[in-house]
Amino acid sequence: MANIILDNLQSKRIITKDKSEKLLHILLRETDWMHACGGKGRCTTCKMKVLEGAEHLSEITEAEKKYIKLNKLRSDERLACQVTTSGDIRIYVKKETQLPHLKYDK
Ligand code: FES
Repeated sequence: MANIILDNLQSKRIITKDKSEKLLHILLRETDWMHACGGKGRCTTCKMKVLEGAEHLSEITEAEKKYIKLNKLRSDERLACQVTTSGDIRIYVKKETQLPHLKYDK
């Protein structure tokens, strides 16, 4: 079981038991999350800043390596459509990927 805390979405907590499910799918069941390419690793709109628990996330994928090389993904950011988590994490939605109809704290 893992707790996913959405830091700037009222610290919403999502609990998941499935360590093999992509984070984007888990997030979309509980809230709205930008994902322009449909979760195919071809954009960076699903990116999240990882505040805590990065060690619980799956290995960096080839898609993420490509965006790191292009400076479109920072070392503290991951693509929600590419990762799974095996433990608790706290994540943050940056201004550039916030959705206009959701209320973010910061
Ligand atoms: S939704 Fe496009 S890279 Fe994740």
